[in-house]
Amino acid sequence: MRSLGLLGLFLVGCATPVDDSGATCEDCRGVATADTDDLPDAGVGEELDAGEGDGGPVTPPPPANLADTGLCTDTACTAIASGVVEFRPRWALWSDGASKRRWIALPPGTRIDTTDMDYWRYPTGTKLWKEFVRDGVRVETRYMVKTGSGDAAWSFVAYAWNAEQTIALPLPAGRANVLGTGHDIPSQETCLGCHENVKTRVLGFTAFQLDWNAPAPLADLDDALARGWLTKAPPGTVSPHLPLPGSAQVQATLGYLHANCGHCHNADSPLVNRPMFRLEAARISSVGITRTYQSSVNIPGTAFGGATIIAKPRDPDRSIIITRMNAADPKKRMPALGAETIDAAGRSLLRTWISNL
Ligand code: HEC
Ligand code: HEC
Repeated sequence: MRSLGLLGLFLVGCATPVDDSGATCEDCRGVATADTDDLPDAGVGEELDAGEGDGGPVTPPPPANLADTGLCTDTACTAIASGVVEFRPRWALWSDGASKRRWIALPPGTRIDTTDMDYWRYPTGTKLWKEFVRDGVRVETRYMVKTGSGDAAWSFVAYAWNAEQTIALPLPAGRANVLGTGHDIPSQETCLGCHENVKTRVLGFTAFQLDWNAPAPLADLDDALARGWLTKAPPGTVSPHLPLPGSAQVQATLGYLHANCGHCHNADSPLVNRPMFRLEAARISSVGITRTYQSSVNIPGTAFGGATIIAKPRDPDRSIIITRMNAADPKKRMPALGAETIDAAGRSLLRTWISNL
C-alpha cells in the first residue's frame, strides 16, 4: 500500500512527462528518496559492474574491531597508532555534508611505485582508512587493505560506530540511516561501485589529490616524497608538481569533476564512451587537451531533461552534466553513488564553468 501511495505521489508531483527527459521538480526528488531504505547503489550496474572484481569483499573475515586493523591503540580510537599518517585530498568528494578524516599506513621499508603518476601502485599490506562524522557523530570508518601484488588485490569493509562511540565493528552488509542520521554505510559490494572503476583502486591518496600544500600535520605530495614513500618523484620541485591549466575557476572545476565524478567517468572504466572527468598527468598542458573538455564540451550525449549536449557552452540548463545532477529520479541523478542530496556549491561551480565556455 505504502509504495503504491508513493508512486501516486510521484506521478502527481511530476505532471510533466517522465521519460528520458527527466522531470526535475523538487517534490519528486523528496518522494523518490524519502522512503527508501535501499542503499544508494541504484542506478549503477547498467554499465558499471560492482561486486565481481577480484580483490573484492574481505575474506577471511575482517579484524574484529577498528583498533585491530591497526588504526588506533584503543577501541574508541582516541589515539592514532604510530606509523599511521593523516592526509586530506585537495578536492573533496561531496558526501551529503559529512566531514571526513583519512589515514594511510605503509608497511615499514616499503614504497609506492609511482612510475605511472596516474596509477600509483601500492605495496602489499598498505592500509587506508576514512572516518565519517555526520551531525557531530562518528558514524563509520572505512578500511581498505592491499592483500596481494595485483592492482585489484584490495579488501574493503566499513566499521560501524556504536552509539556510545566506544567501539566500531565491521559491517560488510552496510546499513541505511545509521545512528539516527541520514548517513548510509555502504556494503562491501557498493565500495567497489566507486573504487573498482580505477584500476589501482585508491582514489584520494594519489598524485593529483595530494598536489597541494596541506596544513600540517596532514601529509601531501611533498611530505610523501620527503618520507621516501615514492619510487619516482613527480616533476618540479614544489607543489603544484602537476599544475592544472586555466583560470582558478576552471582549475576548481577540473578538480571538482576529478574528485566527484572521475572515479566512475575515466578512460579506464566501463564508462569510457561517456564523459571522462579524471585528470591525467599527460593531459594538463591546456584546458582543451584535458579529457574533461574533450569528452564533454559540445559533445552529444543521451538526451536528458531537455539537454542533448554534455556541456553546452554558455547554456548550463541545456547541458546534460547539469540536468543529470538535477534529475528527480535517483537512478538517473549524478553522481550515481555516495550522495542523496545535491551538492549545491559543486553544481554552481559547474554552472559557472559552462556559462563561461
Ligand atoms: C560514492 C563512491 C564511493 C563509495 C561507494 C566508496 N568510496 Fe571510498 N572513496 C571514494 C572517493 C572519491 C575517495 C577519495 C576522496 C575522499 O577521500 O574524499 C575515497 C576514499 C576512500 C578511502 C581513503 C583512501 C583513498 O582512496 O584515498 C578509503 C579507505 C575508502 N574510500 C574506503 C571505502 C570503503 C571501505 C567503501 C565501502 C564500505 C567505500 N570506500 C565506498 C569514493 C567512494
Ligand atoms: C558511481 C559511479 C558514477 C559517478 C560517481 C558518477 N557517474 Fe555519471 N554515470 C554513471 C553511469 C553508470 C552512467 C551511465 C548510466 C546512466 O546513464 O545513468 C553515467 C552517466 C552520466 C552522464 C550521461 C552521459 C551521456 O552520455 O549522456 C553524465 C553527463 C554524467 N554521468 C555526469 C556525471 C557527473 C557530472 C558526475 C559527478 C558529479 C558523475 N556523473 C558521477 C556513473 C557515475
